[in-house]
Amino acid sequence: MTQESQLTRLGLFDARVPRYTSYPTAPHFAPGLGERQFSEWIASIPASSRISLYLHVPFCRRLCWFCACRTQGTLSDEPVRAYAETLKAELALLKRHLAAGVTLSRLHWGGGTPTLLPADLIRDLSDTIFSTVPLGDGAEFSVEIDPNEIDPARLDALAAAGMNRASIGVQDFDPEIQKTIGREQDYDLTRRVADMIRARGIRSLNADILYGLPHQTRSRIADSVQKLLTLTPDRVALYGYAHVPWMSRRQQMIPSDAMPTPEERLGLFETARQLFTWDGYQEIGIDHFAQPSDGLAIAARTGRLRRNFQGYTDDTAPVLIGLGASSISRFPQGYAQNASATAEHTKAIRAGHFSTHRGHVFAGEDLLRARIIEALMCDFRVHRAELLADFDTTPERLDSLFQTAADAFPDMVDVSPDGIAIPPGSRPLTRMIARAFDAYDQSRALHSAAI
Ligand SMILES: C[S@@+](CC[C@H](N)C(=O)[O-])C[C@H]1O[C@@H](n2cnc3c(N)ncnc32)[C@H](O)[C@@H]1O
Ligand code: SF4
Repeated sequence: MTQESQLTRLGLFDARVPRYTSYPTAPHFAPGLGERQFSEWIASIPASSRISLYLHVPFCRRLCWFCACRTQGTLSDEPVRAYAETLKAELALLKRHLAAGVTLSRLHWGGGTPTLLPADLIRDLSDTIFSTVPLGDGAEFSVEIDPNEIDPARLDALAAAGMNRASIGVQDFDPEIQKTIGREQDYDLTRRVADMIRARGIRSLNADILYGLPHQTRSRIADSVQKLLTLTPDRVALYGYAHVPWMSRRQQMIPSDAMPTPEERLGLFETARQLFTWDGYQEIGIDHFAQPSDGLAIAARTGRLRRNFQGYTDDTAPVLIGLGASSISRFPQGYAQNASATAEHTKAIRAGHFSTHRGHVFAGEDLLRARIIEALMCDFRVHRAELLADFDTTPERLDSLFQTAADAFPDMVDVSPDGIAIPPGSRPLTRMIARAFDAYDQSRALHSAAI
């Protein structure tokens, strides 16, 4: 059996396997956790500590067919302005519960497309954020930028507000692929936007590209990666395209018969991976690359890489608060999620309370399993001694957890007195192996039984 077919048999390309940006994953949050619990958790944040904020903008000017994000299209600024008012009211609520002296470690604006906020709203919102929680020393402020939805005025406003990291969506430069996925964006435009960002002194540029797209071949992805390298991004996210037309109806516009086979997908990832590493990029976790001097690369080399809802991060703040519709917050005590629908979220905030409607309170082995999953996703290994030092567990319990994963993936994981590790040849299976530690994912049992 070839390595490709063995990996495929083990479920490598199952789009339903979580990306483990949290544990438990969001589909396992329960209803019932509400604004009272959320407010208490905010009030328990120690004075003068550091937290991070995520601000979600669920609007886009265009709706790309490939995109699986929950977002709504709008041609007018009216709903965006109304939404910004809601965010400001949400920040006022946050301020009411937050202890004095708390500062920001990271601020991230994501979506959707946060850059469809007009320049005056960017100023207004950032002022409100920083009067609620000021940026701390060395803080990072990052924004997701659609190159088609940005101009000098908005970039000036973002730079003046303190944005010091930008992330641009590229996906692929091939015109036929772009047409098929409903996302046209030529190289010259992307290059111009990258130059405009750098001209404003933004020191870090990330780019998102995708493998596994319809009509993508090894030579086409090689061409796209080479074009991307001419922009010298500091970081690259190389995501596997998740084709889930049963969840994301826009994807029904994409012909399923143009999709690469699982084996071809693996080849596409390998081609891109080799080009990035040949060019001096360091591999980070399962799907990122960064210049060796970049903070994420340094964190990966020094064992400080973490995983949160935005993917990989070197942020060490113990609390991440999500603002806006559907955003998720993480506290040492658990997770809390805002109402998903914008209208429902707005209604709650306008009525003077948070829209928290579901979440999870950590219990039992949650934090132990979360640590194992995060370590596998970040470092491909877990040290037994660290788990024994940090958690109320026993060597026998760890043996049993490790052995369950080893049994589900024979010859694909290394269990030793030091702990458990995923060797390089098995790394395409990392999410599947992490799932062996997920006590909430019922499909895991079915999966193990099927192989
Ligand atoms: C939330 S989007 C925001 C990007 C920004 N609006 C833009 O278009 O440039 C962030 C990233 O999610 C990734 N993404 C969206 N849909 C995806 C899918 N179906 N599979 C994998 N990644 C996807 C894309 O790489 C995209 O750049
Ligand atoms: S890729 Fe970006 S612009 Fe396109 S629909 Fe998704 S969030 Fe909106």
